[in-house]
Amino acid sequence: MGVPERITEVTALLAEVLAPRAPLTVIVDGGDPGAAAAFASRLAAAFPASSRAWNIDAVLGLTGPGAGGFDSALNVLEPATDQVLVYLRGGPRNRFTAGDGERRAQVVIDHRDPDWPVIRHVHPSLADPDRWYLSESRAFFAARAASWDVKFGDDLPAYAKAVQQAGVRPGDVAIDVGCGTGRALPALAGAVGPTGRVVGLDFTPDMLTEASRAGRDSAATLIVADARRLPMAGHSVDVVFAAGLINHLPDPAAGLTELARVTRHGGRLALFHPIGRAALATRHGRTLRPDEALSEVRLAPLLAAAGWLLTDYEDGEDRFLALATRH
Ligand SMILES: C[S@@+](CC[C@H](N)C(=O)[O-])C[C@H]1O[C@@H](n2cnc3c(N)ncnc32)[C@H](O)[C@@H]1O
Repeated sequence: MGVPERITEVTALLAEVLAPRAPLTVIVDGGDPGAAAAFASRLAAAFPASSRAWNIDAVLGLTGPGAGGFDSALNVLEPATDQVLVYLRGGPRNRFTAGDGERRAQVVIDHRDPDWPVIRHVHPSLADPDRWYLSESRAFFAARAASWDVKFGDDLPAYAKAVQQAGVRPGDVAIDVGCGTGRALPALAGAVGPTGRVVGLDFTPDMLTEASRAGRDSAATLIVADARRLPMAGHSVDVVFAAGLINHLPDPAAGLTELARVTRHGGRLALFHPIGRAALATRHGRTLRPDEALSEVRLAPLLAAAGWLLTDYEDGEDRFLALATRH
């Protein structure tokens, strides 16, 4: 038997989550013209034949490809208990003039590559993240692993600078959580020196394969692991480096708590991204919201509750860097 198409995996998972909630209307919107209708019919086909009390609509009229004036149906409809809004992220940029099309959706599918749809969000009232998060996030990053360094390779000096500012000392144990292709690993290895130790952890094996291919396995031990359950003893780490990770966790507060668990008191945390939050939101075709986990107003209390003290916060055009100390 061949590998199932991605669309089959995604619609089977959604049908499994949604079918028990019937009677239900599922409304699909977003994506390229025609994508919502095609997705809706695949989703309908994935529902068990026995579950009759559901309805799946693609809302076509409101998302036509016309110039400017259209809004997403999902900005107009109010969520209701017998209705699930599914948004396909992708398609022509800036089509939705009145805000994020996905703002009210309970399910968000990355649909930028229609042949590789990936679930990026399911409202926790519909499904526990454990049902979908690991397999879907891996699918998302696996598809990007081989071209990651080609696309983002120019950022290496920015990683070196962030590592320098993170307060890594010779002899330290440093971990890079969600290390991807290991862009920070050589700088971390240089900073801890021959008496220190660097471990790169990522739950997408394809990313670690690329890290090895780039020779970065000589800078660090590479481990396939989930940031939400690190395979490390409590208080065993001096420095945690995490670039582009926190935004991808279903529960950032729990993630920061797990990072704190493995870090010794007085240890350091560096949350980094080689471009600022606003520029990243633009790259992803969405609007930055003030209440996101990495905004300064939210991050400081989130860190404090998790066992960290925020000491530096920078969110410029060129980079994002938040530094914290384990208390
Ligand atoms: C945006 S990429 C950044 C990769 C790398 N840190 C960099 O800056 O180039 C996010 C990485 O985090 C990994 N990741 C996301 N959630 C994770 C989790 N819960 N546990 C481990 N790795 C995770 C992904 O596989 C991906 O490689």
